[in-house]
Amino acid sequence: MKAAVYRNYGTAAEVLRVEDIEPPEPGPGEVRVRIELSGVNPTDWKSRSGATPRPIDGFQIPHHDGTGVIDAVGAGVDSARLGQRVWTWMAAAGRRWGTAAQWSVLPSRQAVPLPAGASAELGASLGVPAMTAHRCLFADGPVEGRNVLVAGGAGAVGHYAIELAKYFGARVATTVSGPEKAELARRAGADLVVNYREANAVDQLRSFAPQMDRIVELALGANLELDLAVSGPQTHIVDYAAEPADPVLPVRKCMTANVTLRFILLYGVPAEATDQAAAAITEALAAGALTELPVIRFPLDQVVAAQQAVEAGAVGKVIVEVP
Ligand SMILES: NC(=O)c1ccc[n+]([C@@H]2O[C@H](COP(=O)([O-])OP(=O)(O)OC[C@H]3O[C@@H](n4cnc5c(N)ncnc54)[C@H](OP(=O)(O)O)[C@@H]3O)[C@@H](O)[C@H]2O)c1
Repeated sequence: MKAAVYRNYGTAAEVLRVEDIEPPEPGPGEVRVRIELSGVNPTDWKSRSGATPRPIDGFQIPHHDGTGVIDAVGAGVDSARLGQRVWTWMAAAGRRWGTAAQWSVLPSRQAVPLPAGASAELGASLGVPAMTAHRCLFADGPVEGRNVLVAGGAGAVGHYAIELAKYFGARVATTVSGPEKAELARRAGADLVVNYREANAVDQLRSFAPQMDRIVELALGANLELDLAVSGPQTHIVDYAAEPADPVLPVRKCMTANVTLRFILLYGVPAEATDQAAAAITEALAAGALTELPVIRFPLDQVVAAQQAVEAGAVGKVIVEVP
């Protein structure tokens, strides 16, 4: 099969190649997916670059997310799954067989049926971003009737945080850096979109909700002052990204707000929670409540350029077309 492969850490141009390799067979409890589209996330280039190194078992096919059709099942998997159109999550976590290839094998629960109305692009956009967004929103209970602030609402995780929070009944405010991203966040359904670079950003958020219930955060250091300005005893600030330099925590201000801080890394989220996330995402998908960001497509032969685009902070979703 044609597969993007790396054997060492380095820049995309240095280590990432498209090769012909033997397709994998599904082991017990696994399914094999004929991949149509492979979605690229920041974690993919961070793993490949060695910034957040993950052990390489001889070779590594990158990318966790994808859309495709199950064409083989391993022992113990219901053969009724054959022919199912699925979206994948965490395909390359602790395994060689990421989605930047014609076939991927992964545990059956990580290949989730894609409802008929959902596009292949949407299916390939969900895994890492929507699962992370779900965990950030729901780790501390339901959000129905609650006020949620999503930092960076035009980003991939931010986009699904807005859509999932709205679908499950929250009021949602979000921050962006300019008009193009504001439009994306509005289209996702945010009730209030604030440019975090404007001087009155805090006032706009305070008039929406003096104290948020959840703050889905990706730049804790940069935004902590703004976050604490809308925090109180019921607020959970849930951080899912590291900044280039770790912030210094203003402990007294955090104590004064009586705020709760939570950190999330999808690789370590308990299985029960990821199963709940997959089920909730499926429900929202079936209801037509999830959409894809504008898609930037690359053929598999240009997988290096695809990863470079994500590394450069592309606006929208970078997708690799698998032949
Ligand atoms: N913990 C986990 O399991 C997990 C899971 C998924 C992703 N992540 C990490 O989360 C980060 C985002 O991932 P992604 O896929 O959503 O990336 P993305 O699609 O590139 O989105 C990032 C967004 O954040 C915005 N942003 C940057 N600084 C901001 C600030 N100070 N305040 C508000 N918004 C800000 C960016 O826009 P502007 O710069 O224009 O504001 C951009 O829209 C990455 O570092 C990724 O590695 C972690």
